[in-house]
Amino acid sequence: MNTSPLGRCRLLLGFAALLGFAGAVGAAPSEEPIVIKFSHVVADDTPKGQGAILFKKLVEERLAGKVSVEIFPNSSLYGDADELQALRDNKVQILAPSLAKFSQYSKQLQIFDLPFLFDDLAAVNRFQQRAKGRQLLSGMQESNITGLAYWHNGMKQLSSTKALNKPADAKGLAFRIQSSPIIESQFAALGATPVKLPFADTLQAMADGKVQGTENTWSNIYSQTYEKYQPYMTETNHGVLDYMLVTNTKFWYAIPHATRTELEGIIEDVTFAVNNAAEQQNVEARQRLSQGKTKLITLTEQERSEWRATMQPVWKQYEAVIGADIINAAQQVNRKNAGK
Ligand code: LMR
Repeated sequence: MNTSPLGRCRLLLGFAALLGFAGAVGAAPSEEPIVIKFSHVVADDTPKGQGAILFKKLVEERLAGKVSVEIFPNSSLYGDADELQALRDNKVQILAPSLAKFSQYSKQLQIFDLPFLFDDLAAVNRFQQRAKGRQLLSGMQESNITGLAYWHNGMKQLSSTKALNKPADAKGLAFRIQSSPIIESQFAALGATPVKLPFADTLQAMADGKVQGTENTWSNIYSQTYEKYQPYMTETNHGVLDYMLVTNTKFWYAIPHATRTELEGIIEDVTFAVNNAAEQQNVEARQRLSQGKTKLITLTEQERSEWRATMQPVWKQYEAVIGADIINAAQQVNRKNAGK
């Protein structure tokens, strides 16, 4: 069931201008257009939601009559539990799941879930653009999943019914998590109880008292109205929540070459727009939350290093699964190492 609130029409930052892209009008239709169903689980006024809207707009401008796009936001067609299978079965053609949701198909992609691995979103971006990061886009071909691009959302924060200043404050609380073994271990390391739940069920679980906390980006927290049940937010920036735009491999390579090339160009433009706007959307959402009733907790360096020390042992637990080489490559992108 979709319990997420619809239509908080805010945070349209930057996209208005980007939506002004001028595009060539496609040739007159001679055949039925190819239909791309783009399903996702978040609200329209988020980095991914805006990316989907821009993708549809540019396809309509540049491939009119050849390709049409239908968007299904807020888990209205498929949700976390079934969207990847639906993609593999070609019931939808594009998704952008969080990188935390691919663990069944790619062990290596779990790198993005390691807590305190990346200093900030710029470091995440550097890793995604380098050879190792790009290789991961094609790592799920055997499962009929092709990665087209990385889309940013942002760094994760903690929300809760009580103030979380120190790791010990999280002990004994239940936290809603995405379905990721690493995130499960991260909350276990805090002495908390991780509860895997689809994104669409999270607000209701908060309302029912089934969970007392969660982690997410500012834009997801704000667009889902978590502050109704979680008055305390701790700015930890302890991990990243980004996406991989994926398609069904067989579907994609059956598209005529010229059309596919045009689609790839559109994806490049949309990716540029999403990745430029995401950070600002999160800044804006944070600001709106802090102007409301939310009690925003910022951490001192000392406090943040306590959170790091408590969560970081999960790296060792997953080193053999992900591969030490990838973990090392990811560490190289942090600012202090970036030039090496
Ligand atoms: C979550 O489940 O919290 C996120 O992956 C939702 C999303 O797609 O941003």
